[in-house]
Amino acid sequence: KSNLVIAIDGPAGAGKSTVAKMLADKLNNIYIDTGAMYRALTLKALDLKSNLDSSQELSKLAKNTEIKFKKVHGEDRILLDGKDVSKEIRSKEVTNNVSLVAKVPAVRRQLVKLQRKMAQNQGVVMDGRDIGTVVLPDADIKIFLTATVEERTQRRYDELKSKGKDVNFEDLKSEISRRDKLDRERKVAPLKMAEDAIELDSTILTIKEVIKRILKFCQEES
Ligand code: C5P
Repeated sequence: KSNLVIAIDGPAGAGKSTVAKMLADKLNNIYIDTGAMYRALTLKALDLKSNLDSSQELSKLAKNTEIKFKKVHGEDRILLDGKDVSKEIRSKEVTNNVSLVAKVPAVRRQLVKLQRKMAQNQGVVMDGRDIGTVVLPDADIKIFLTATVEERTQRRYDELKSKGKDVNFEDLKSEISRRDKLDRERKVAPLKMAEDAIELDSTILTIKEVIKRILKFCQEES
């Protein structure tokens, strides 16, 4: 089968986006980063000083927001109401507030609708928290990518350090743990492995090995 639909879920920093992007390139599929969509909406809510405890306010905001992806020089950029916010959505403030926005059911309904529309009638690699369980339950291949919290923190730490940022390992670790806890314990579409997903642990596998294994599953499917 060509045009495979691949869902990749897992906790923060497990390597989902790196893996998803590489797979999409290899398979000539489109790549959809659903986390970026929740981040974009969070950025808007913060800019507008919305009340992040008000589901009603956030739901209204989601309905009045346009989120799109666009390829520029081969790179995926995200447009929030027409403006490229690819860099802004990675800020610490957005990262530490996104789970509050993402737990609102009406926000999720809105974004899931958009995600399904983006994936319609084509091969796609989509990454997030609820792709295999909620967004694309009929996906051909479902991967649950994990790694220990220490490993995930270390990767993020190295990444930030290499950008010249001043970071503290323990602070970073507690931020990542807090976000995972919120994502795992929310009522609607919590982070969890789909029953028919394959778990891959990137603590012990390199990214190359993870890709190799997934490509093998793809061959078996086609
Ligand atoms: O993947 P990323 O770390 O960019 O996701 C940011 C946040 O967006 C997650 O911590 C989670 O709260 C939310 N999210 C979600 N469902 C998805 C993707 C992301 O709730 N499918």
